[in-house]
Amino acid sequence: MRRKIVAGNWKMNKTLSKGKQLVEEILSSTDASSDVLKIIAPPFIHLAAIADMVRLRTDFAVAAQDCHHINAGAYTGEVSAEMIASTGAEFVIIGHSERRLNAVESNELLAQKVNIALVNNLSPIFCIGENSEERNANIHLEAVRKQIKEGLFHLSAADFSRVIIAYEPVWAIGTGLTATSHQAQGVQNFIRTEINKKYGKEISENCSILYGGSCNAQNAQELFSCIDIDGGLIGGASLKSPDFLAIINSF
Ligand code: 13P
Repeated sequence: MRRKIVAGNWKMNKTLSKGKQLVEEILSSTDASSDVLKIIAPPFIHLAAIADMVRLRTDFAVAAQDCHHINAGAYTGEVSAEMIASTGAEFVIIGHSERRLNAVESNELLAQKVNIALVNNLSPIFCIGENSEERNANIHLEAVRKQIKEGLFHLSAADFSRVIIAYEPVWAIGTGLTATSHQAQGVQNFIRTEINKKYGKEISENCSILYGGSCNAQNAQELFSCIDIDGGLIGGASLKSPDFLAIINSF
């Protein structure tokens, strides 16, 4: 059975004290026996503290927002997958569109990051999604296929089954323009079909595919009710506990 997941990507937001306060509010308002996995992705510098806070809750986990593609060395300012795992984090977001764009990350580099994450026992949350030009030219499915093929399809079946996919259309991120549930379901069904062709039915059915892009307390319920949408990767709405809690409660 694939897991229901709500992940909060804080991006470059929250001081340590404000981040801890937010997590405290979310912890105290959620039921530890719930089957929804909550993943918190704070900035690197808060990882260890937040991982400590959720350590006793099996319905919570922590993710980094990126990792370097090499384990150690003279790379000033970078953070390796090994270091991330040593904080207690279990996941790492790889290939977020803001990094693909701002840090010019290629599919080839992202494939290396996926590999090093898996070697260090981190599950990648691998982000894919078309930009507005690709959507308008009706080549969005091709764009998404290329990203999963080049970023993930070199993996063995055993390794691929540890990956979570986040479909985040670039035009919907931080814009208030959410994909309709019909659009998101359409692409996510296409992604699952591609996984089925490559790895077979069991692995494709067990792969959690999240939607991200202006997902909020108002639209989460409709999105999460779609058959191929297993939860959300949430940006802006993960920064306030009432909004994040409402999204968690949308299943
Ligand atoms: P928003 O929810 O702010 O649109 O961001 C989505 C996102 O990029 C999550 O990774």
